[in-house]
Order: sequence, then structure tokens, then C-alpha cells
Amino acid sequence: EKGGYDYFMLKEIAEQPKAVADTLLGRIDASGSLTLDELRISDAELRETDKIVIVACGTAFHAGLIAKYAIEHWTRIPCEVELASEFRYRDPILHQRTLVIAISQSGETMDTLMALRHAREQGAKVVAICNTNGSTIPRESDAVLYTHAGPEVAVASTKAFLTQLVACYLVALYLGQVRGTKWGDEIHAVIRELARSAEKVELVLETMEPVRALARSLADKKTVLFLGRHVGYPVALEGALKLKELAYMHAEGFAAGELKHGPIALIEEDLPVVVVVPSPRGRSVLHDKIVSNIQEIRARGARTIVIAEEGDEAVVPYADHLIRIPETPTLLQPLVATVPLQVFACELATARGNEVDQPRNLAKSVTVE
Ligand code: M6R
Repeated sequence: EKGGYDYFMLKEIAEQPKAVADTLLGRIDASGSLTLDELRISDAELRETDKIVIVACGTAFHAGLIAKYAIEHWTRIPCEVELASEFRYRDPILHQRTLVIAISQSGETMDTLMALRHAREQGAKVVAICNTNGSTIPRESDAVLYTHAGPEVAVASTKAFLTQLVACYLVALYLGQVRGTKWGDEIHAVIRELARSAEKVELVLETMEPVRALARSLADKKTVLFLGRHVGYPVALEGALKLKELAYMHAEGFAAGELKHGPIALIEEDLPVVVVVPSPRGRSVLHDKIVSNIQEIRARGARTIVIAEEGDEAVVPYADHLIRIPETPTLLQPLVATVPLQVFACELATARGNEVDQPRNLAKSVTVE
């Protein structure tokens, strides 16, 4: 059942190209437009939506954070993302034109379920993004967009996360398409890029051996930091979460722009810092800013582990270790940038002798609050 792999997690990491392709299947038509018939909310209602609220926990929450960038850019609808456990106790402001998106692999996470019940009581429409057919969260939602990752057994979420991203991009692009924002041409180009994302994930998987070797060499470290900007920031959070739950190491993700506001004090000689670098094409300001962040931390002794696009030469002088990912539009970059972080955490956990599929103290689905 592990298909020749030592752990389910390794198998599930390897299944990601298929999971991504399956989640896209049948949702892009021959003309390159999106068809989301499952979204049983009428186009008229979607046009009237004036606020989007995403609720989720853990890794699914990180998918939601990334979705916010995509949704606000392509639809111009204000979007909030909140941990489900915080949302429901906060007396949130919702109304009939609010669209709530609940993201959950298992469909059974109690906090997310309670948040969506609360949202529906306030009259909001709820769309679930879920990987488990017939589970409670989709059953209690107005509509569901299933991710087709197949069963995810390892406690640490990998392929479900990538498919949650795909589903979020689909919703964002579909809303953009329905509402006809000024990004019409960009939306078509991005749909074409999205259609190629499974291949790109495959390419990343083929080049992971140096990442494994690097992870093994860091097995006795106490702390690893992760930095990112824009969508790279939630990717950094996800990299840190994977490392905590699998390697039982202290790991933290930061928005690189926050360094000067505190975290830079943590930098000391030989501290491993993973930096997710946005594409130098497109929003080059973001790229240039992060290159100077890498310089700043390296000048203070950090061991820099840089994840950067193929062809990005600006980072080379400041990278102690360089992990290449294929060229990808910035908003879609998390699909490829997360994969090395999953491999890194899995290998570090193995090197430390930890139980990869069943980390201590954790359960696959958290059905208590
Ligand atoms: O089943 P869900 O997606 O609702 O689960 C949410 C979190 O419990 C889950 O993502 C958790 O953070 C993972 N163990 C992370 O790898």
C-alpha cells in the first residue's frame, strides 16, 4: 500500500503531480475558460459577493493565506483569512453577500465545521474545498469543490495542500472570469500556466537529491528559520510547520519585511535560514527586496538556503545552498516552492529517527476543539 516507499508521506509527495492534474481535470474547457458546475452558487450571486472569508486550520490555513493574494488580485473582492478556531469566538461580521470558503482535507475538522456553521447561521454562503467525499464539512456547506488528491494517510499534509492551492486558484480565477475584472487577459494566461503546473511539480521532484543531502547535514541543528514575501510568506509558514511536526525542531516562518522589526535579532553564526525568493520577472520589486534581506542575514552569519527560480542569477552570490524551481508566475509559485520544503522536513525527520507518518502527539484529523 505504500507502493514501494518507506513512508506514506514519501508516496504522497511523489503523487503530487497526479493530484494536481486530477484536481484540474474537467475544470478547464477547450477554450481555456473555467467551468465549475459544482459551485452551486449562481453566477448572479457570485457577482454580488462583496466579501470573502476563508476559514481553515493548520496547513489548510496556509493554503487560505495564499488564496487571499490570488482572490484579491484577480477579483478585487476583499478577502480575509482566519484560523477557524479564532473566527467563531470573535463575533465576525458576515452577511448574505459574504462568501465563506472552508478549506479542509479531512472534512471533519471540528474547528472548521463550527466556523462554517456559525457563518451559515449569519446568512453567509459557504463553499467547502475538501478532499474527502461525503464528509461532514461538504455535507453542511452550500457547495463543494472537491480536491482530487486521493486518500492522504500521513499526518503531515502534502498532496492535499497542493490541491487545495489549485482549488483556491480555480475559485479565484472563476470569480474573476464571472465578474469580468480588468485582469481578463491575465486570467487566461494564468489558466494556461495552471494547466502546466503538474509538469512543473514533477520537474521539482526530479531534482530533490541535494535537498535530502542538505537536510541530513542539518540533523543536529536546533532551529531553522523560514523567510518569504507575498505568497512566499505563507510558504515559509508551511515549511516551518512541516519541520515542527515532523522533525520536532524549533522552526518559525517570517515575512521577510518583518526582519528588522525583531526577528533579525535571532540570526547568529551558522543558523540555517530558508528563503523563498519570488520570481525576478513580474513584480521585480519584491524580488529585489528579498535579495537585500538575504544579504542582511548572511552578513550576520546565517547559513542561507535559497529557493529561487531557474535563471535567477542575482541570488547566487548570497546563497550557501541554492534550490532551483521552474519559472512560474508569482501567484502560482507556491505550487512549486512548497515541494522542496516538504522533502526537506521529511528527510530531516528520518535523519533524526522520528516516525514520519505518525508524528508524536498528532492525529490526522482533529475532531475535537
Ligand atoms: O483535515 P484538515 O485539512 O481540516 O486538517 C487541518 C489541519 O489539522 C492539518 O492541515 C494539519 O495542520 C496537518 N497535520 C499539517 O501537516
